[in-house]
Amino acid sequence: MNNEVTIDPWGSSQSTDYSRIIEQFGLSSMEGVSIPSPSRLHRRGIVFAHRDLDVILETKRTGNPFGVLTGLMPSGKMHLGHSMVIDQVRWFQQQGGDVTIAVADLESTATRGISLAEGRRIAAEEYVSNYAALGLDPEKTSVYFQSQRSVVQRLGFQLGKRTNLSELEAIYGFDGSTNLAHVQAPLVQAGDILHPQLDDYGGLRPVVVPVGVDQDPHLRLTRGLAAKTNWFNVNDSKMGLQVGVSVQDDNSAVMGVEANGRVNKDKQKEIFAMIVNSISSLGFSDIISNPKHGTVNVPSATSRDKVSIRMALLSLERKLGGMGLLAPSSTYHRFAVGMTGDKMSSSKPKTTLFLSDDVATAEKKIKKSFSGGQATVEEHRRLGGDPDKDVAYQYMMYFFEEDDSYLAEINQGYRSGNILAGEMKQLCIERATAWLTDLSEKRDETAHLVETFFD
Ligand code: TRP
Repeated sequence: MNNEVTIDPWGSSQSTDYSRIIEQFGLSSMEGVSIPSPSRLHRRGIVFAHRDLDVILETKRTGNPFGVLTGLMPSGKMHLGHSMVIDQVRWFQQQGGDVTIAVADLESTATRGISLAEGRRIAAEEYVSNYAALGLDPEKTSVYFQSQRSVVQRLGFQLGKRTNLSELEAIYGFDGSTNLAHVQAPLVQAGDILHPQLDDYGGLRPVVVPVGVDQDPHLRLTRGLAAKTNWFNVNDSKMGLQVGVSVQDDNSAVMGVEANGRVNKDKQKEIFAMIVNSISSLGFSDIISNPKHGTVNVPSATSRDKVSIRMALLSLERKLGGMGLLAPSSTYHRFAVGMTGDKMSSSKPKTTLFLSDDVATAEKKIKKSFSGGQATVEEHRRLGGDPDKDVAYQYMMYFFEEDDSYLAEINQGYRSGNILAGEMKQLCIERATAWLTDLSEKRDETAHLVETFFD
């Protein structure tokens, strides 16, 4: 236990040991992943990890539809930290993804004591107004409330059957004193994440969830839940890819397993013929069906074919009456340091810029922000500053400066002592001023669109 990082989605502390997080929770690093027309956050390594992002990239490459889902907790004002997820959502939207955004009003009422009515007001005034200004396309974005989408709650309830308290203890560190709202919130969030795949909400397709890494426990849970509902699983084997059939309470009748445990051979044959059919319709010919072992092998299939085979079988599962849910993909961004040098938090206004802050307030906060400079000018000239710790530099990198070569230049200038801490703050103030002014103008221009984001 001693060396372990914990991730608590509701906690106030935050680990920034990103390589350890990758290792401990089995995330995939973004290093070496080639992203078409990468955004600022990709180019700068701020989006640092993912799960199954290749599924999304491959789906896009082949021109098939994919969805994007994320959520917001309507409590307090939207700040710079929140804008990173929206930057990612916008990027996926530009790549062709359809976007769904959950307002976690049930979660915030349960865990933050915010009434549903207040949550509704905060979502529109603080968040969605900025989503519009940040360039999300209202035609391709649908924002909904957890409290108003019963299918999300129903799905959460149904999925609850696939987990138990021990698993939630292991994932979230719950114990006997844990409020049950904290047990329900992750299940509702699993409903959020999986429901876009239902027929009424776009149907079976890969869905990617861009989030801060604090939300990964929810993704681990949701991916596990989805996998447990699957009737067919697809794995690497010595003979290409192997499909395994999972007989469960819900599907044993369909699968030809009778109540007394006896197998109805004809029914079983029929099911295996359907599996073979689904796979051969993808263009595979040498398919080895082994009903006795409950497996089907596709020797010529490689890992690259996993997604298409999986999708074909999920669609078969649906035809047979199953849920047919694909585990979500996800991407994770690093957290920008708070302006005081501690964690950014909406309940501590000095730690961040709110998107509604005026220019004078922003200037004041940046002037007081944590600096990576030396104590005296003489020392700074001699030893240089540390851009990795300098809030002014960091905020240009994370939020305000698009130009990579300019950024590299001031990074170097700061390290070498040519640029002083006060000068770096001044550069940041200029950029932040332009950014906030532009955003506020866009907010006015797009105010009439806010309602159209909700459905
Ligand atoms: N729990 C998230 C937060 O605290 C909000 C959220 C609700 C969410 N549902 C989601 C995030 C689905 C991602 C996907 O901010």
